[in-house]
Formats: sequence, C-alpha cells, structure tokens
Amino acid sequence: MNEANVFRHLQQVARVSLGLYPTPIHEAPRLGEAIGGVNLYVKREDLSGLAFGGNKVRTLEYTMAAALEAGADCVVAAAYAHSNHCRQAAAAAARLGLEAYVLLRVGIQSDVWQGNMLLDQILGAHVELVEAPGLDEVRAIAEARCHALADEGRRPFQVTLTLTVRTLATVGALGGYLELRAQLRRLKIKPDFIYISSAGATLAGALLGVGLLGEHTRVVGVSAEGLAEERTALVSDLVDRAATRLDLPSPDLARVEWRIDDAFVAPAYGVTNPSAIDALHLAARTEGLLLDPVYTAKGLAGLTAHVRSGKVPPGSTVVFVHTGGTPNLFSYAEQIEPGLATHSGESARA
Ligand SMILES: Cc1ncc(COP(=O)(O)O)c(C=O)c1O
Repeated sequence: MNEANVFRHLQQVARVSLGLYPTPIHEAPRLGEAIGGVNLYVKREDLSGLAFGGNKVRTLEYTMAAALEAGADCVVAAAYAHSNHCRQAAAAAARLGLEAYVLLRVGIQSDVWQGNMLLDQILGAHVELVEAPGLDEVRAIAEARCHALADEGRRPFQVTLTLTVRTLATVGALGGYLELRAQLRRLKIKPDFIYISSAGATLAGALLGVGLLGEHTRVVGVSAEGLAEERTALVSDLVDRAATRLDLPSPDLARVEWRIDDAFVAPAYGVTNPSAIDALHLAARTEGLLLDPVYTAKGLAGLTAHVRSGKVPPGSTVVFVHTGGTPNLFSYAEQIEPGLATHSGESARA
C-alpha cells in the first residue's frame, strides 16, 4: 500500500484542528552520546501547541469532531488525577466553546493541586475527585455522569476511556506517524528504531503505518502502565479496529518487528523509579530537554537500557517520540528533586 492511499483514507475521518502541526523533530547528539552512542532524534509531540501539548491533542482532533458531529454541548473526561488526556480535553473543550466535566481518580499524587490538576481548573473544567479501585470503575462513573447530564437535558460526549476514543486515538497516531515519516524523508534519515512511551494507541498508530507501508523500522513501546502480554493484545486489537474504521486492510503485525517492554513500569503506574529519574535528569542536562516523570522518563530509561545492553547496537539511528506530560514535572517535584521539596512552608534550601 502506498502512503498517498493511506493518507486519503485518513482524510475521510472527521477532524477538527486543535494542534500546531507538524510538531518539530530534532537531533539530540549529546543525549545520544550519553546513552551509549546512537544517532538520536526526538519527535516533539510535547510541542503540539494546545495547553502544554502532548500526544492526546491528535486524539482530541478526532474525538472532539465526533462530539461535535453528535451535537454535544459538553464533554466528560475521566482518568487518573494527573491525567494529561483530561487536561488536554479541558483545553480542547474551552477552544471549541463546550463545557468540560473532568472526573479525576484520587490516589496517585491527587493531593497536589499543581501541574495538570491546576491546569484543569485554570481551563475552566468542572473538576471532581472520584474514588474508584481502578479505571474500569472510573469508566463506569464517567458513563453514569453522562447519563445524569443527559437526564438534565444536556448533550454530553465521553472523550476518554471508551473503545471509540482509543480507536480514534490510533487513527490520530497514524496521522502522527505519517507526519514523522515525511519529516524523516526530508531529513534523509532512515531510522533503525522508533521508541515510544506508549503501550496503547500511540504505539498502535505507528504500527498501523509501518505495517500498511511494509517498512522495516523496528518499533518499541516502553510501557508506563500494564504488562507487555496484555498490552500487546490491546495494541494489536487497536490496529485492527483503526484499520476497519479507516476502511483499510489490517496489516499483518507478524511481519513487523515490534515489541512492548514493561520492565520500566515498576514500582507502579504513576510512580517514578530511579532509572526514570536518571533519564529525566540526563535529557535535561545534556539537551535542555524536559521529559515527564510518568511516561517519557520511563521511555528514555527503556531506550537507555536497551542501548547499554546492546539490544540497540551503537551507531543505530533512533527516533524517540516525546509524547508530552511535562506539567507533571511540577506535581511530582518531591519525587524528582527530593532535596528541594518543601514542607509546611519551610524554605527549600533551609
Ligand atoms: C505524556 C503521555 N505519554 C504517553 C501516553 C500513552 O499514550 P497511549 O498509551 O494512549 O498511546 C500518555 C497517555 O496518557 C501520555 O499522557
């Protein structure tokens, strides 16, 4: 299948413009050297323009279009307390003149009204903290909120956690992959590897592109949430669903070299670990590049470990996709720079 054909199918899905695209790509030679000698390029999805950017802006270009098509007057977004998706949904809703109801699961860092939780408020969302054992229950709470809003005569549309959203997120990520491919062509770069901090739709979108176009680039998803086996099944399913949505054949993923590494999730989703904190500092101090503590720092920790163990041979050309999340630097200050954390008003350096 050729690129123009894939692009034609992509253009048939309704989309509203929310981001500033194409996002930049640049070389990161000092970081590439520091992690073990690879030719490293960073695709800056964190610079996608809307309210601190991130990969979910591409998702929202499609889900908000679906909301508008359905005649929605408000959107419901629910996830973890410091969800990037919810923050970007609140921004997208503001941009389109819709109200946003944001339901945030208490637990991980939820007592820190900083970063995304602060931004949700600034962006004018109706923010509510909810208690739930896991995301399945959060989804059920979001659905119940949609029903309650409909009973009040509102027209809500749920923009996180549904299969429709994940499928459209994969469609959006395919667009991101085609954009990256065009940039690489202009730069005359053929990457050996693409690393993405995703074990979900962003990875699935890239795989859909690589698979449909029959490319040889190896694609690695570094998971920040979930085990490789379960996530591999999810990603394969998303590839099929997005292909069906686009009226394209499902690519044979057995012909694509890809995998998910779950070794960097520990100790848990939303909790950092020493290798992630090291990676975050390394990117900042070699390139002035700010990663986030929840996703991209774990992603770079994964890439670094793979270069140092020889899984990614020295001299390889690698694209690292920076998927965003940087507002969480502020809500995770105590985990990132424990020596600077302030308590009860004490001076940081006292
Ligand atoms: C900054 C960031 N990176 C990566 C991801 C992973 O995205 P997905 O697994 O949906 O592709 C998310 C999702 O919430 C995110 O906020």
